[in-house]
This record gives sequence, C-alpha cells and structure tokens, in this order.
Amino acid sequence: MKRDLISIDDQSLKNINDYISFAEKVEMIPPAEKTRMLFGKILGVLFFEPSTRTRLSFEAAMLRLGGQIIGFSDVITTSTAKGESLADTIKTVEQYCDAVVIRHPREGAARLSAEVSRLPVINAGDGSNQHPTQTLLDLFTIKKFFGRIENLKIALAGDLKYSRTVHSLVHALVKYSNIEFTLVTPETLKLPDYVKNSVDKKAFKYSETTDLKEAITKCDIVYMTRIQRERFPDPVEYEKVKDSYRIDNSILKDAQPHLKILHPLPRVNEISPEVDSTPFAGYFPQVGYGLTMRQAILLNHIGGQE
Ligand code: CP
Repeated sequence: MKRDLISIDDQSLKNINDYISFAEKVEMIPPAEKTRMLFGKILGVLFFEPSTRTRLSFEAAMLRLGGQIIGFSDVITTSTAKGESLADTIKTVEQYCDAVVIRHPREGAARLSAEVSRLPVINAGDGSNQHPTQTLLDLFTIKKFFGRIENLKIALAGDLKYSRTVHSLVHALVKYSNIEFTLVTPETLKLPDYVKNSVDKKAFKYSETTDLKEAITKCDIVYMTRIQRERFPDPVEYEKVKDSYRIDNSILKDAQPHLKILHPLPRVNEISPEVDSTPFAGYFPQVGYGLTMRQAILLNHIGGQE
C-alpha cells in the first residue's frame, strides 16, 4: 500500500517517534553509502508556491540518496497556466516518477492529490493548513538540542493565525508529556479556535500574551514565525501588525542560558541578524536537520525503509 504524508494529525505518537529514530539512524550513515539507497528512483517536486528550504532540501535529499528529481517551482511555466486541473497534473506527473512532493497555496490540495494518485504523496505545505515535514524536522531539532521532547516550556510567537508550521507543530506537541505553551501574538493573529478545538484539550496547556519579552524569560524554546504578508486578505491589516515583534540581543538579556530560538524561516525582521552568532540561535542548525529528516522521509516513503 502506498504511504502518504499529508497531515501530522494522521500520525500516531509512535509513528512520529519512528520518523525521529529513523532520522537519527540516517544521520549516522556515511555519505558514500547513501548514494545508492534510492538509485533508479525519481521524485516529482511540484511547487505551486515559493520555497527555498523545503524544495531544495527535498531535492538535495533525493540527490544525496542517489535518486533523481523532476518538477517545477513556477506554475507559469506549466500547463496549470493554461487551466489544467490539479488532479490532471498529478495523474500526468505520476506517469513519470515514484513519489510526489507538493506545495500548494490551497488548503486540502495535498489531500486531493493523494486521493487521485497511485503514488505516495508528501505534503510540503498547503495554504495555512499543514506542513508535516516541517513539524518532523522541528521535533527532530528539539530532540537534538534538548535530548527529549517532553517537559518543555515553548513560546510560539508571531503569526499563529495563518502559520501552517505552528498549526502542525501544535498538533504534534500535544501528543508529548508536559509541554507548556505560551502563545505570543498581536490580538489579530491568535491561534484560531479551529486549531485549539482540534487537539486534545487536556493535553494542550497554554497561556496567551502579547508580551514577547516577558515570555522569553520563562521558556526553553521560542518558536518564532514570520508575519506572512501573502496570507492577509487585507494589506491594511498586515501593515498594522507587520513589525509587532523583533528578537534582538537586548530582549534576550534575561533569557535562560539554555534557551533555543527556532524558526521555520524565511525570516524578515523578526530576528535580528545579531542573534545569529549567539548560542540561542537554533534556526540554521534546524535547516540542516531538515535535510536529514527529509532523507529519512524519502527512504521511508519511496524506499520502504524505517
Ligand atoms: N520552512 C519553509 O517551509 O521554508 P520555505 O518556504 O523556504 O520552503
């Protein structure tokens, strides 16, 4: 049976931990040994929305495992621009490859693709909905930094309304023991009720604040997000909140020494570059762990390995 990865909500705690354990194993495989693991396989990489990390890390992961890639990163060059449906695009591309990675601006596009395809489909982000491979790499990063994914105080900050990385991450983290969340947002970008209501209420222990400085003093992890201009229906609303938060060295003065700042990236203004050279900055190592996790995902979903 084909295996899709569409929503983190479809994954049990055991499945999620299996991905993380497998990524730990993949990390130990010498590069030369990896180069034949997906030899002869082709990955379809279909990006209907801009990306740097997700697309390039999936492509790099496939190439480093000896596989090949086809795909596009600009729909203007494809027959979508002529009016071809998503379902027809998927049923065409599946003739050419062994699995599909898809990013799309519409919520539900990855699920629809999986329903019409006989190949494994991996969701690389659908609108404001889900970004499950980002969540797996975020959890892998937390495990690498803290040696555990439990008993942690985590501040989720910025745009919690539209952030698919946050929505996916909340769904995953509530499956672990004793995670305390502080939700730091402007009033208009709070975590939506539909996300709060879709997770186990007893497991989701959270407080809400607008005060990032205060939240930083109490937490182990700040998961910072960009205020996403492209998701706002009204540009005036974006202008009101776009510079709500900025982490710089002064705001980190009272942080706990072990604090790690994570960010799915890209960033705009919300983390000053001066923070990059501090021990708090976890976001570029996080990018590197993403490559390992995506190798693990491809080996699992295309190679049948775990
Ligand atoms: N984190 C993330 O999805 O980054 P990209 O948009 O660059 O892929």
